[in-house]
Amino acid sequence: MPLDIRALDTVSPADIADYHGLMGELYAVEFPDIDPPTVEAVETMLRPNPADVGTRVWLGREGGRLVGGARLDLLGQENVGLARIGVRVRPVDRRRGLGTALLQSAIPAIRDSGYDRLIGGAWGGGPGSRWAAAQGFRTTASFVMQRLEIAGGGWRALAGPMPDGFELRRWVGRVPDDMVESYVDGLIAFEDRPGDQASWRFPSRTVERLRDEEERLLGRGVEQRGLVAMESATGAVAGMTVVELTPDDQERAFQKVTAVLPRHRGLGLGVRMKTAMLAWIEDDRPGVRRIQTGTATANVHMIRINHALGFADAFVSLALEQSVAELLQRFPD
Ligand SMILES: CC(C)(COP(=O)(O)OP(=O)(O)OC[C@H]1O[C@@H](n2cnc3c(N)ncnc32)[C@H](O)[C@@H]1OP(=O)(O)O)[C@@H](O)C(=O)NCCC(=O)NCCS
Repeated sequence: MPLDIRALDTVSPADIADYHGLMGELYAVEFPDIDPPTVEAVETMLRPNPADVGTRVWLGREGGRLVGGARLDLLGQENVGLARIGVRVRPVDRRRGLGTALLQSAIPAIRDSGYDRLIGGAWGGGPGSRWAAAQGFRTTASFVMQRLEIAGGGWRALAGPMPDGFELRRWVGRVPDDMVESYVDGLIAFEDRPGDQASWRFPSRTVERLRDEEERLLGRGVEQRGLVAMESATGAVAGMTVVELTPDDQERAFQKVTAVLPRHRGLGLGVRMKTAMLAWIEDDRPGVRRIQTGTATANVHMIRINHALGFADAFVSLALEQSVAELLQRFPD
C-alpha cells in the first residue's frame, strides 16, 4: 500500500479522531500504565499555538488508514530561529521508514523558514530517542516525569502550617490583580535550569503574556488553580504552585509549576504549597485521582521532595536538538 503524506490545510474532526486512535495505540505500547491523551489534548496537538510564527501538520495514510503524523512549529517570541518537530508512527507500522519519510516531508518548510536549529522531544530509552539519534539529534536536557495517586502517598504526613511570616493565597482561573506583578516577578524563579544545554528559552514573563495565556486556557475550558506563598509583611509573592485541570479528563491533573524565589528557599514553602494544593484538590475535586508533573533531572531537590510526597517516577523525557545545516546535509535535495 503506497504511503500518502499530505500537509493539512485545516484539521477536520475525522483527522482528530484518527490521531486520537493513533495516540491511544502509541500509549498502550509505550506507556501502558499512563492515561493516553484525551481528545481535547489531541486536538491541541494538531492546532497551531498562537505564540508561534507558523505551524504545519502532515498526516501519512496507507489506503486511507492513518499510519503516522508530523508537526512542525516555527517558534516565536524569544525562540525565533528554533523549529520544533514531532513525528509519530503507529506502533504496528514502525521500522518501515515511515518516521523518516514524515520528517523528510517537513524538510522544504524547514529549509524555507531560514530557521537554524531543529528541536524535538522523546522518552528516554524508547524508540523515539533511538530514531532521533539515528536522525542526528543530540540530547540537551532531560526531565523526570512523576506521578502521584492522591489517595495514597505520604503527602499528608508532610502537610502543616506555613512557616512564620508567610501565608497562603488561592486563585482559580486568573491570578488576582493585586498580586499579579509580584507573581510574574516570582515566576522567574522557575527559570533556573540546572544542567540544561538546550537552545530553547523561556519566553520572558510579562503580565500581558500571563493574561493572554489565562484567557486562552479559560477559552478551552481548562481550569488553572494556583496557590501562592505570600510574605505577610510585604504582600510579595515568595513562591507559587499551579495545577491544570482539563474539561474532558476528570481524573487527572497536571502540576505545571512549583517555584520558590531563591531568597526564600530552604524554609519548606515548596512542600507546604504542594501539600496544600493536594488537600485542596482532594476536598474540592474528589474525582481527580492522579497528579502528574515533570522536573529537570538535575533538579534533585525537587525530585526528592516529590518522592517524599509519594510521587513515583514514570519516565524520562528528553529535549533533543540539531542544527538545520546538519539536517540538510542528511537530506540534500
Ligand atoms: C520515532 C518514530 C516516529 C520512528 O518511526 P519509524 O517509522 O519506526 O522510524 P523509521 O522506520 O524511519 O526508522 C529509521 C531509523 O531510525 C532508527 N530507529 C527507529 N526506531 C528504532 C528503535 N526502536 N530502535 C533502534 N533504532 C531505531 C533505525 O536506525 C531506523 O532505521 P532501520 O529500521 O533501517 O534500522 C516512532 O518510533 C514513534 O512514533 N515513536 C513515538 C514518538 C516519538 O518518540 N517521536 C520522537 C521524535 S519527535
